[in-house]
Amino acid sequence: MAPEAVLSVAQALARARACGVDRLDAMWILCQLLGQPRAWLLAHDHDVLPAAAASAWPTLLARRAAGEPLAYVLGEWEFFGLNLRVTPKVLVPRPETELLVDWALEVLDAGPGQQVIDLGTGSGALALAIRRARPRVRMLATDACAQALAVAADNARRLGLEVSFALGDWWAAAGAARFDLAVCNPPYVAAADPHLAALRHEPLAALSPGGDGLGALAQVIQGGPQHLLPGAWLLLEHGHDQAQRVSGLLAAAGFEAISTRSDLAGLARCTAGRRPAAAECRLDTTAAPESRPIARPGDPKAAQTGA
Ligand SMILES: C[S@@+](CC[C@H](N)C(=O)[O-])C[C@H]1O[C@@H](n2cnc3c(N)ncnc32)[C@H](O)[C@@H]1O
Repeated sequence: MAPEAVLSVAQALARARACGVDRLDAMWILCQLLGQPRAWLLAHDHDVLPAAAASAWPTLLARRAAGEPLAYVLGEWEFFGLNLRVTPKVLVPRPETELLVDWALEVLDAGPGQQVIDLGTGSGALALAIRRARPRVRMLATDACAQALAVAADNARRLGLEVSFALGDWWAAAGAARFDLAVCNPPYVAAADPHLAALRHEPLAALSPGGDGLGALAQVIQGGPQHLLPGAWLLLEHGHDQAQRVSGLLAAAGFEAISTRSDLAGLARCTAGRRPAAAECRLDTTAAPESRPIARPGDPKAAQTGA
């Protein structure tokens, strides 16, 4: 669609409708383009778009009409009340992932110095949301994708949140460090899942580890005992049909208090396990002197084993 010399707000929205772009999406894009809130748009139907906005409009509409996620068209997305910059190098943070933040905030105590790791941070969504809510934790965010890590670091800088970043494969990025809490939303879509086609604009490495979708979850779980302190939690997001297998992997790796929570759609979405406290930890004979069990308010509630 060619840019128009004179285009009113109403005409711009009509163009969006003609292209098959959802009205609400079109309004979000227009609001950002004009630097105005939605209420302004509703009251300024007949206002003419500035020339720069009128000329940018067709390209933005075409991107959205081609199925590009609204978040990429806008270049930003909200997660847990944080406005995050997003690019096609990072997964668009999903609302269901906020479950992991809620769960993390329940198991973290308010004391200083707790070490938290976000494995596969993408835009930094989990690390930044937890760090903002618990400013006394020491947060490490990792990713195997350098461009994703750059987006996360930029988000941390813009939001003024102190987070360390490390590039590398799952736990390897953390070296010998050990943590009080690990959160991870790994790629978990099976290679043959037909939903992958609809997600083609997002990085495949963020969505699927290939095979049955469990490979990354298994790696993170199996590496957990070497990198988690006694009593530490591992909180994982997974596919709606993976809770039982994830619970089995956690149990096989020696985790206890394993439970699953569902998202707002009622789908089993996150599963957690806790390392046994020090006395029960067979693997802790080599624990560093500063390693310490941490007081816990109790097991996660609302357990709904997806099994
Ligand atoms: C599902 S995305 C999650 C992004 C972000 N944590 C969120 O919840 O929005 C998975 C992330 O894991 C990263 N990743 C994939 N394979 C990895 C690996 N082998 N080691 C570390 N990170 C990896 C991807 O680059 C991607 O950023």
